Amino acid sequence: MQDLYKLWKIFNEKFIDTGLAKGAFSAPGRVNLIGEHTDYNEGFVLPMAIEKEIIMLGQLKKDREVRVFDLVYNVEIDFSLDKLISLRKNIWANYLMGVMDEMQKAGYLLQGANLIFTSSIPQRAGLSSSAALEVVTALTMAKLNSLKIEPVKMARLCQQAENNFVGVACGIMDQYVSCLGKKNYALFIDCRSNDYDLIPFKDRNYQIVICNSKIQRGLVDSEYNKRKEECKVATEFFKQKLNREMRALRDITIDEYKKYQVQLPEVTARRVRHVISENYRVQAGLEALREENFSAFGQLMIESHQSLKDDYEVSCPELDLLVDLALKQEEVLGARMTGAGFGGCTVNLIERNYIDAFKKNIKNEYKKITGIIPDIYVTSPAEGAKVLELR
Ligand code: GLA
Repeated sequence: MQDLYKLWKIFNEKFIDTGLAKGAFSAPGRVNLIGEHTDYNEGFVLPMAIEKEIIMLGQLKKDREVRVFDLVYNVEIDFSLDKLISLRKNIWANYLMGVMDEMQKAGYLLQGANLIFTSSIPQRAGLSSSAALEVVTALTMAKLNSLKIEPVKMARLCQQAENNFVGVACGIMDQYVSCLGKKNYALFIDCRSNDYDLIPFKDRNYQIVICNSKIQRGLVDSEYNKRKEECKVATEFFKQKLNREMRALRDITIDEYKKYQVQLPEVTARRVRHVISENYRVQAGLEALREENFSAFGQLMIESHQSLKDDYEVSCPELDLLVDLALKQEEVLGARMTGAGFGGCTVNLIERNYIDAFKKNIKNEYKKITGIIPDIYVTSPAEGAKVLELR
């Protein structure tokens, strides 16, 4: 915990001790193993927290002012808990303000605080650095103010902050796994009941490896909202046809889809097919992992990518290339894009003793074709948000 000593040193140089509660906290990013664009359809997802995180240090103040120092960009911002208005510049501060706003709206009483934070999660890479910032803010403010907030509730507050304050209509997956991730486990989430199950994901022979395409697309938010809307329209269609109550595409069976698909616009039919088949793949993937059948799981990852590429149309040439290059190698059991899409990362399941060769091959081949050197991260499932103790 050498880093934590250093961070406390910076904190103590920046702020005068208020004599009130202080502490250090962390929240991880995530990679989704399978179950993409299913969370806002009240379906199933299977992400895991990764070994990259945001660390926040804080101390309460007697007043209602918050002073926060972002060590990544070396920027300091001041705001009042009585006047939380989203910013156009330094938009990262909106994640903190949004969370504090939602906490106050939920009736939690907050005092001001001095905060610093630093991050090892690559930004705009689809590994949920924003969810991690929301979650670490919520945990810091909850602990410093001696508030007891259940992790699922905390995840909901953070999701609402992103929906209402930041203005991104995301589902609950990212915040959920950042709160509840567990070392050596993937997290199966039922995004309707908000229940979860921990799935052991520790096998000496296989490893999760993430490839960052380094492509960042401005399209993400608008296309994301468009997909959400398409799903809503399709749900309405099936509600009329089947004449029963339903809230989301989760409620439609594959047989019902087959019966009515011809009546849907072609594009909408493909969107629905992705959501239904992806929910099926998550459940099949769950079984595969429980049986330690990693090759079956890898196959489902491959099918998931196909579906995201062709039916849901949220991939991009660089992500497809990374997947193709990965699958050319025998020791790779599965590869797919992960997260919202249009850039960001792929997730790969590979034989552990092949990691070095994999890295080398992917770097060379991807660079040859795109001119970009991809970043590659090897990670095991990590612990969710937690208090950091100095030892
Ligand atoms: C983003 C959103 C999530 C989820 C994924 C796609 O990461 O924040 O809620 O919808 O995209 O699976």
